[in-house]
Amino acid sequence: MQTNRTLTQRLRQLSLALLLASLSATGSSAQTTNTVTVLKIQADQIAAKVSPKLYGLMTEEINYSYEGGLYGELIRNRTFKASPTNTLFWSAVGNAAISLDTNQPLNAALNVSLKLDASKPGDKAPAGIANAGFWGIPLRPNTTYHASFYARAKYSGGPLTVSLVSVLGTNDVKVEAVTDATLTQASAVVPAVSRKWRKYEVTLMTGNIAPSKENKLVITTAKPKSWWAKLWWKPGPVWFSQVSLFPPTFKNRANGNRPDIMQLLADMQPSFLRFPGGNYLEGNTIATRFDWKKTIGDISERPGHMNDGWRYWSTDGMGLLEFLGWCEDLQMEPVLAVYAGYSLRGQHVTPGPDLNPYVQDALDEIEYVTGDTSTTWGARRAKDGHPAPFPLEYVEIGNEDWFDRSGSYDGRFAQIFDAIKAKYPKLQLIATTKVSTRTPDVIDDHFYRTSMQMQSDTHHYDNTARTGPKIFVGEWATREGAPTPNMNAALGDAAWMTGMERNSDLVVMHCYAPLFVNVNPGAMQWRTDLIGYDAMTSYGSPAYYAQKMFSANRGDVVLATTAENLPTRDWQPPNPRRNGAASTNLPAMQKVPTLFYNVTREAPSGTIILKVVNSGGAAQDVQVEVGGVPSIDASGSAIVLSAGAPEDTNSITEPNKIVPVTATVDGLGKNFTRMFAPYSITVLRLKAR
Ligand code: AHR
Repeated sequence: MQTNRTLTQRLRQLSLALLLASLSATGSSAQTTNTVTVLKIQADQIAAKVSPKLYGLMTEEINYSYEGGLYGELIRNRTFKASPTNTLFWSAVGNAAISLDTNQPLNAALNVSLKLDASKPGDKAPAGIANAGFWGIPLRPNTTYHASFYARAKYSGGPLTVSLVSVLGTNDVKVEAVTDATLTQASAVVPAVSRKWRKYEVTLMTGNIAPSKENKLVITTAKPKSWWAKLWWKPGPVWFSQVSLFPPTFKNRANGNRPDIMQLLADMQPSFLRFPGGNYLEGNTIATRFDWKKTIGDISERPGHMNDGWRYWSTDGMGLLEFLGWCEDLQMEPVLAVYAGYSLRGQHVTPGPDLNPYVQDALDEIEYVTGDTSTTWGARRAKDGHPAPFPLEYVEIGNEDWFDRSGSYDGRFAQIFDAIKAKYPKLQLIATTKVSTRTPDVIDDHFYRTSMQMQSDTHHYDNTARTGPKIFVGEWATREGAPTPNMNAALGDAAWMTGMERNSDLVVMHCYAPLFVNVNPGAMQWRTDLIGYDAMTSYGSPAYYAQKMFSANRGDVVLATTAENLPTRDWQPPNPRRNGAASTNLPAMQKVPTLFYNVTREAPSGTIILKVVNSGGAAQDVQVEVGGVPSIDASGSAIVLSAGAPEDTNSITEPNKIVPVTATVDGLGKNFTRMFAPYSITVLRLKAR
C-alpha cells in the first residue's frame, strides 16, 4: 500500500495534515481532551439494515427555488400574471408605453398580454420592452440562449430585434444601450410580426464576452430601414405573451434545469425527491393548492398560480412532468405528495362526497406517473413527451396535517388511503401525522431545531417500537445561519444523521428542508436553506457537505458499536413554548455528548465506514477497536469537514470556505487511535479483510 501511494494521495494527505496542524495552532480550542474515547465496533454483529433509500431531497417552490433558482427560465414574470395591475419586472425602452391587456389573451390559460405601444419609434431610437430576469440575467461567453415569445401586431409589426444587453452600472436599458454594439451581448431579428398570435423563436449566441449577470433581455421595434418598406409600414401596438429565455440546461432537457445546481444535487447521490411540498402543495386556500392537472402540457397552456404560502407567482413551468424529469436525470425515485383536502389558512374539504373529486385527482396523478400508455393519464403523459412510466413506491397524503384543528385528517386520510390501496395495493402510503382509523405504512416526522437540540436528541428513534409504521423524516434542519446554515448547524445535522442512520431499519427515508435559497435581498422567505445561489453561481453550505459525505458513504448494514468515555457538555434546554409563550419552568440541565458516531459496512467490498462528529471546541482522541473481522488494512481514507469556529460558513462570495478534504490515512488497523479535530465531521473508510 505504502509503495503504491500516488503523488496526489500524498498531496491530499499533506493538506489534511496541514489543515489539522493549522487547527491545532488556533489556540486552546484545539487542545485534545484528557480522556480518550473508546469506540468498540463488532463487525460480525449487524444492528440494523441501512435503508437503501435513506438519503433524499425535499423540494417545493420557496425562496425562489425553481423560478429564479433551479428551473432554467431566465425571464421573470414571463406570462405577465405576477400582478393583475402592474407590468411587474418589465420596463419600457425608448419612446414606448407598456401596459397589461386582458382584451388580447393568447388563450384561456394566458389570459393577459403585454401591450407595447410604440407607434412612433424614431429612425435611430428603437422602442420596446425589457426584463432583468431574476436579479439579473446570467450570460456566459460563447453560449447559445433560446428566446421565444408569442406576439401579434395590430397592423404591420416588426421588424423586432431581440437582444441581450449589458446594463452594468445602470439600472435600466436606455436607447443608447440598445443601439451600442459594445453593450449588446447577442441579438437576432424577427423580420415581421403577424396580425394573429404566433410563436417566434430566435437563437442568441454570445461571443467572447466576460461572464456577467448585469444584463437584460430587450425586444425592440423600429422603423424599417429601407425606403420601400417604409412605404407600406403602418405603426401600431404589438402584444406579447409568454416571453421566455433559456440558457443551456442540465442534460439539454427542454424546459429543463440549471446545470450548476443540478450538479450540486447529483453529487449528493440522493435516492428520492419529495415534491411538490411542503406548504406549496397545500396553498393558503384550496384554490391556490398545487393543482397538478394545471401544471402539465405545453407551458403556454399552464395558467400558473399564486404561490400564496410563500407570496410570489408561479408560472408552473416546473410542473408534474418536470419534477419527474428531474428525478429521472438524477436517478431518484419520486416521493409524490398528493393534495389531501387541507390548505394552510385552515380551509378543509369534508371527508365523504365533497372529497371525492380530490381523491380522483390523486388517483389520476398516480396514473399519470405510473400508468402505461393504455391508461387515460399514462396516454396523456406520453402525449406530453414521456411514454415510459416512472417508478413510484411512496405516496404522501397531504402535508403537516397536524395543523388541521378541525380533526378532519383521520377521515380524509382514510378515504384517500382506501382509494389508493384499492387500485395500487403495492404503494406505500405516508401519513403526515398520527391517524387512528387506518394504519399508514409510514409516518412523516418533521424537525426544525437548534444545533444543541439536534445533538441532544440523536437517540430519538433508538427505542421506538419496530412494530408500527415506518418513519419518513420528510423535513428536518438545524436552523442556525442565514441564508444558508453555518458549521454549527452542520454539526447538529451530522449528529442527528448518525441517529437516523443507526435507526434506518425504522427511518426508511429522510430529507433536509428547505433545499434552496436565492440569496438576493428579498428572495428568502425561510432562513437556513441547504444550497444558496444568485443568477450566476451557486454553493453548498457546510450542512450540504455534511449530507453529501453521509449520503455518499452510506453502507448497507449498521454494525453494533459501543462507546466509552464520550466527552460531554452541560446544556440548558430552552423553555418549552406553548401557544407562543415560554413556560416559566426551566427544564433540567442536560449532559449532552460532543462526540457522535455511527458505523456501517458496505457490500460487496466489506469496507467499514466510521462516521464521527466532534461538535466540541477541543480535539478528541478516539481509540477504535474493531472485533469480529480478521484484519483491517493499515491504510484507509478519511473525508473531513472542519471549521475554525462554529459560526464559520460558506456564502455566495466565499463558496468554498468550508469543504470536505479527502486524504489517505495510515496507522489504521483493528486497534488504532485517531484525533478528531474540533468542530469536525469525519468519514473514515476502513478496508476490512
Ligand atoms: O420547509 C419549509 C416549510 O416548513 C414547509 O413548507 C412546511 O411543510 C413546513 O412547515
